[in-house]
Amino acid sequence: MGKTLQSIVATALAVLPLANAQQPGTSTPEVHPQLATWKCTTNGGCVQQNTSVVLDWNYRWIHTASGTSCTTSSGIDKTLCPDQTTCSKNCLIEGADYTAAGVTTSGSTLTMRQYMKGSNGVTSSVSPRIYLLGSDDNYVMLKLLGQEFSFDVDLSTLPCGENGALYLSEMDATGGRNSNNLGGAKYGSGYCDAQCPVQTWTNGTLNTNGSGYCCNEMDILEANSRANGFTPHPCANNNCDKSGCGYNPYSSGYTNYYGPGLTVDTSKPFTVVTRFVTNDGTTTGSLTQIQRYYIQNGKTIPSAAPGGDIITANGCSSAASFGGLAGMGQALGRGMVLAFSIWNDAGGNMNWLDSGSNGPCSATEGNPSNILANNPDTHVVFSNIRWGDIGSTAQTSGGGSQSSSSSSIKTSTSTKTSTSTKSSSTLSTSTKTTSTVPATTTKPSGATQTHWGQCGGQGWNGPTACAAPYACQTQNAWYAQCL
Ligand SMILES: *[C@@H]1O[C@H](CO)[C@@H](O)[C@H](O)[C@H]1NC(C)=O
Ligand SMILES: *[C@@H]1O[C@H](CO)[C@@H](O)[C@H](O)[C@H]1NC(C)=O
Ligand SMILES: *[C@@H]1O[C@H](CO)[C@@H](O)[C@H](O)[C@H]1NC(C)=O
Repeated sequence: MGKTLQSIVATALAVLPLANAQQPGTSTPEVHPQLATWKCTTNGGCVQQNTSVVLDWNYRWIHTASGTSCTTSSGIDKTLCPDQTTCSKNCLIEGADYTAAGVTTSGSTLTMRQYMKGSNGVTSSVSPRIYLLGSDDNYVMLKLLGQEFSFDVDLSTLPCGENGALYLSEMDATGGRNSNNLGGAKYGSGYCDAQCPVQTWTNGTLNTNGSGYCCNEMDILEANSRANGFTPHPCANNNCDKSGCGYNPYSSGYTNYYGPGLTVDTSKPFTVVTRFVTNDGTTTGSLTQIQRYYIQNGKTIPSAAPGGDIITANGCSSAASFGGLAGMGQALGRGMVLAFSIWNDAGGNMNWLDSGSNGPCSATEGNPSNILANNPDTHVVFSNIRWGDIGSTAQTSGGGSQSSSSSSIKTSTSTKTSTSTKSSSTLSTSTKTTSTVPATTTKPSGATQTHWGQCGGQGWNGPTACAAPYACQTQNAWYAQCL
């Protein structure tokens, strides 16, 4: 791309009517990859849903009609965007190139890659974060209180330090769509989670005061081939249980249960089933247990723990001041957005997930540079996503506690997380990972860029390193930012 393409784009944009708002731009149409999912009932079986996925707003090029980025080295361009209304008049947000962003779908299968080779031949981190979208261009609101959720996952290419994540956040269904943000969920806006991330836009509106955006988060799976966990993170009074009261089989003492060749054999796909069980068995009761089991080769895998892989309300003391498991259940009852990501962690090497008491990895092997050098192909595959009545989404030939139903899932499942202080923090800060900047921008430079500052992109000659603890994240071919 570079100047030539940029000026072509700029020329093309210049002849278009100026849209009102950081409204959808027209240089890249937004085409959501379709992803078949199923909603199930005990009596009616599973019905296919018309769903697709949408890339998060922050990964997109936001620019003026002439092609100037609306974000600068000091964050948002305060001239173009002194306030939401002016920003909306000046700036456009572009559609995403999903393949380049590391996201592909086929039928009911979603593949997400950590690294992609750019047109310049250089492999760099893309680390996508995406959401499940309905045919009405709003997020699908999953109401899982008293229900279960199942999917197949292939984590065989995720080494120590990598995290394939599937989780729920209580985002606004429209992504905060409003007259200044006509795209909303269709362009992936409105992200929030239990780490209360500070973002340039909050619920679709320009964030001019640096406030964080907290919301209830339920991590159904944070995992690689060596370790895994599941973790509720309830919130109350604009604060959240950031560490969460999760379950990770390894940190619970079952160190030979999950991994390549182990009981849950992560060298092959398996099914993960998660149940949100209420005190009275209804979809309106109080959430008292989160249960997890796995299916592989058609068979339910017994838990290593005598009581099963379970999070109980009583065991969730860290969440007590944030509404506890019951508060998590209320959010699940209201409806939450399904998010997927793949990322790694330059700051902590994902040790909270897979090292020390949490897993078999060394403290250093999860370093992103190590992953890039040895596992540039690392990718997570999610498929056969289903939700609905307990016992309706997964079927096995024997053993487990789940009842049979009309659905046919073949593999097995598993997952758990431990109380990982950082688990959610990583998710929030996020999902984005330190990405390598395109080749033209990787020249060493003595200076370091500050938070929000530009650190790469076509034609960028400024600093390419970020001041700690920020990492340079590629937003598009023209812009990378210290986040
Ligand atoms: C999916 O779209 C098709 C075609 O528009 C429609 O017939 C079907 O009812 C939709 N399914 C659901 C679950 O909405
Ligand atoms: C997000 O924006 C939508 C649309 O404007 C609004 O209805 C909703 O209340 C907002 N949510 C929060 C938490 O501010
Ligand atoms: C920041 O701005 C938002 C939107 O105007 C407002 O709701 C929030 O209370 C403000 N927060 C602070 C800390 O000023």
